[in-house]
Amino acid sequence: MSTPLHPVVESSSTMDKFPEHVAMIMDGNGRWASSRGLPRVEGHRKGVEAVRKIVKVAGNAGVRFLTLYSFSSENWSRPKSEINELFGLLRIFIRRHLAELHQNNVRINVIGEREGIPADIQTLIEQAEELTGENDGLVLTIAFNYGARTEIASAVTQLIAQVQRGELDAHEITPDIIGQNLQTSDLPDPDLIIRTSGEQRLSNFLLWQAAYSEFYFSPVYWPDFGEEQFLAAIDEFCSRDRRFGALSAQSG
Ligand code: IPE
Ligand code: IPE
Ligand code: MG
Repeated sequence: MSTPLHPVVESSSTMDKFPEHVAMIMDGNGRWASSRGLPRVEGHRKGVEAVRKIVKVAGNAGVRFLTLYSFSSENWSRPKSEINELFGLLRIFIRRHLAELHQNNVRINVIGEREGIPADIQTLIEQAEELTGENDGLVLTIAFNYGARTEIASAVTQLIAQVQRGELDAHEITPDIIGQNLQTSDLPDPDLIIRTSGEQRLSNFLLWQAAYSEFYFSPVYWPDFGEEQFLAAIDEFCSRDRRFGALSAQSG
């Protein structure tokens, strides 16, 4: 990858209020299906359609970075058949929609452990990142086989190796340096994290990066989460007062 994912972004007062980076925990596929008497896999299939829709909606709304949690390092605890289905859907998503995403100037970026993912999926991911690497539209980051604690542990390992090689002094390790050693080093921190399906937890998603994110929990299951719900989340975000530990601009 040659072009940085996070070019300098112009900052104006309206941009300050708008979420530059939206991250989403796409939850509730299984319950969406069960509530209709369908097998869980039907919920995952429907969930892929929702992904396609939300990528368009987010891009049109002016979001620059969209990060989607699609398979966690803990999801390996699910039945093998469901894991295979989820892997199959990622294959289908990339094969079927890569050309369209590329046409729409979307840049694809995948975070998470590559080890353990079937080899053909690793190849598809590399192809998608390569093909779209110069696009300068929406940056779509897919967190696949991702776990924030593993990500942080890997950063610690990398930093210790740098210290051992004499390239870094242990006392020079700052939050910024830790951030630069995470897989999201090219992305700004998420401004807004949306979780669907009524659950209110992070489930090991972007633990470090979420330090000052705004959270939005929707009761809607992921397959039913569409434009209306997405724009409602953005509206809610725009009405929040982010203080980052300082005082509100309104307070005298
Ligand atoms: C989200 O839906 C998709 C993944 C976690 C891969 P779930 O499969 O978690 O659906 P529920 O939470 O069981 O309804
Ligand atoms: C979080 O959903 C992971 C993804 C959306 C990929 P889960 O359904 O796996 O989370 P828990 O188990 O309810 O915390
Ligand atoms: Mg779930």
